Amino acid sequence: MNDPTTIRRLYGRRQGHKLRQGQSALVEELLPAVEVPATGPLDARTLFGRDRPLELEIGFGAGEHLAGQAAARPDHGFIGCEPFLNGVVGALGHIRDRGLENVRLHMGDALDVLERLPDASLDRVYLLHPDPWPKARHAKRRMVNDGPLDLIAAKLKPGHEFRLGTDDPTYCRWSMMVMNRRRDFEWTARTPHDFLTRPDDWPETRYERKARRQGHEVWYFTYTKL
Ligand SMILES: C[S@@+](CC[C@H](N)C(=O)[O-])C[C@H]1O[C@@H](n2cnc3c(N)ncnc32)[C@H](O)[C@@H]1O
Repeated sequence: MNDPTTIRRLYGRRQGHKLRQGQSALVEELLPAVEVPATGPLDARTLFGRDRPLELEIGFGAGEHLAGQAAARPDHGFIGCEPFLNGVVGALGHIRDRGLENVRLHMGDALDVLERLPDASLDRVYLLHPDPWPKARHAKRRMVNDGPLDLIAAKLKPGHEFRLGTDDPTYCRWSMMVMNRRRDFEWTARTPHDFLTRPDDWPETRYERKARRQGHEVWYFTYTKL
């Protein structure tokens, strides 16, 4: 289990291009209404005012998958975590355009939010096209590592899903190695079709679309928390 007192470093970009006026307005006006509170324990009541199943996406990018899942299950609560400001703006745009009332956003490290949730409180965790950190000396920065996975495992309800998507062959091999040696997750695939074909209830992400355009293969892993 991660030691919460450990100082963690968040790698990667926090901001890209400068925001346009409309985007700044979204950040100033809509973000405060949907932001995960900065401190204190978190649960469905704190976030949504009543009990409901919770799902969490780590690194939602521009937010199309988060929004797609939230629109498909309006009775569930969705927590999206993404440190990249331009991505948060994208998600805010989906929340506004699709009138989503069941999404909360954390602009920062997903692990900080996971730590504050009760154990066995999540119905699903999504990790789609995580930063691959391809150099071997950076492998510890990958989200698929035992520290983050211990936390994800603790917060998922038994029998519920951790979904991982990647188009990076190194990350694919790495993830299979790390996940296969864990005793708390079971890979649900029975045939290659199960991990080579995007499930119908898995909205396409921006990275995934880009990867396919570049001719990459994409792998879809679903694990059950035991
Ligand atoms: C390659 S992008 C993929 C984005 C999106 N999931 C998609 O498929 O289009 C990886 C994303 O993970 C985010 N990320 C990296 N570390 C993170 C962390 N500790 N917590 C939350 N998000 C993180 C990055 O900012 C980046 O937007």
